[in-house]
Amino acid sequence: MKKRLALLAMVAALAVSAVACGKTEEKPKDGDKKTESTTENKDKPLVWFNRQPSNSSTGDLDMAALSFNDDTYYVGFDANQGAELQGQMVKEYIEANIDKIDRNGDGVIGYVLAIGDIGHNDSIARTRGVRKALGTAVEKDGAIVSDPVGTNGDGSATVVKDGQVGSLKVRELASQEMKNSAGATWDAATAGNAIGAWASSFGDEIDIVISNNDGMGMSMFNAWSSDKKVPTFGYDANSDAVAAIADGYGGTISQHADVQAYLTLRVLRNALDGVDVDTGIGTADEAGNVLSEDVYVYKADERSYYALNVAVTAENYKDFTDSTVVWKPVSNQLSEETSPTKKVWLNIYNASDNFLSSTYQPLLQNYDDLMNLDVEYIGGDGQTESNITNRLGNPNEYDAYAINMVKTDNAASYTALLQ
Ligand code: BGC
Repeated sequence: MKKRLALLAMVAALAVSAVACGKTEEKPKDGDKKTESTTENKDKPLVWFNRQPSNSSTGDLDMAALSFNDDTYYVGFDANQGAELQGQMVKEYIEANIDKIDRNGDGVIGYVLAIGDIGHNDSIARTRGVRKALGTAVEKDGAIVSDPVGTNGDGSATVVKDGQVGSLKVRELASQEMKNSAGATWDAATAGNAIGAWASSFGDEIDIVISNNDGMGMSMFNAWSSDKKVPTFGYDANSDAVAAIADGYGGTISQHADVQAYLTLRVLRNALDGVDVDTGIGTADEAGNVLSEDVYVYKADERSYYALNVAVTAENYKDFTDSTVVWKPVSNQLSEETSPTKKVWLNIYNASDNFLSSTYQPLLQNYDDLMNLDVEYIGGDGQTESNITNRLGNPNEYDAYAINMVKTDNAASYTALLQ
């Protein structure tokens, strides 16, 4: 009896010390003789997603964060290719409707632009893509200026210029970052208020409403443009925005969240299984999951996977009505034998972000079952990093981490907890 107690005490002490030094303790599996995992938190698989570690002013990638360990990656989408598509989609709409687009017949197509987050690469790319396609872009140091214009009723602003599509002049009448008083960006309610203010200043000078995402786009559509029949364009292909195309929403871009959510969990799964990172991605896995080259690119020097974008307009929207359905070529269940259940800590930077909560997270939840991952989802407030990092109190409990930062500059606030 005494011997057993002493043994138990020893086992308990060992468990405590394993936790203290940041190792994951693995439960014994039937038939396993020895059961220790020597993986320290700093060596566990880590994926950044949706917000790429980078300098929010220059856009330079934070390679220290992107190569935190051998199993660290970023998953997002090709922001420039998507932005080009978005600009093109709006331009083509104007061209196809050139005889009726100018509501007040003043020879100027006026547009307003809702900017998501002036320090977020996706948002910057979209502002640039729109300005480039519509001819309103101004360059500085070789790059298109992405600053908000505020208001520009007379066309005298310096961050944009008047452009031209066909016979008509194009003017960015107004644009601003949609940030609420608590600091949350991409804020849909702020965009709903902004369109009210813009409509009272510019009225029927506004011929087109453009948004860096659907959350803000739908808020403006519902508040004003649906009623006024002013074409409104967004980004993300959230289900509600796709449905609104039938009611006059101009169009949106799918950033292939179904592929991104898959990749987010798949790179972790592969590292946990000790298989090549390309398994089930560019190379079919045993269950038959594989992605074709037309839906993603991998840039090894950036340690980043980028899904490719598709325009969703009146012509094809019926193929995109449910944004939470898994991508068919990667929808096969992994076997518990080769991919046993593992625990993942994952955060969504802002639980009220439309895209992340209504499209991305439901997709992750579909894929986590298929990949035998037990994911703990943490919803942040979109305002401070500490609101999220405070909830990574015991990183030892998890086998892998998936991180969505509030600000792209702040990767170190997370990696510091894993050292
Ligand atoms: C999405 C936005 C979203 C943002 C959050 C972007 O990629 O398009 O809708 O608000 O990510 O970081």
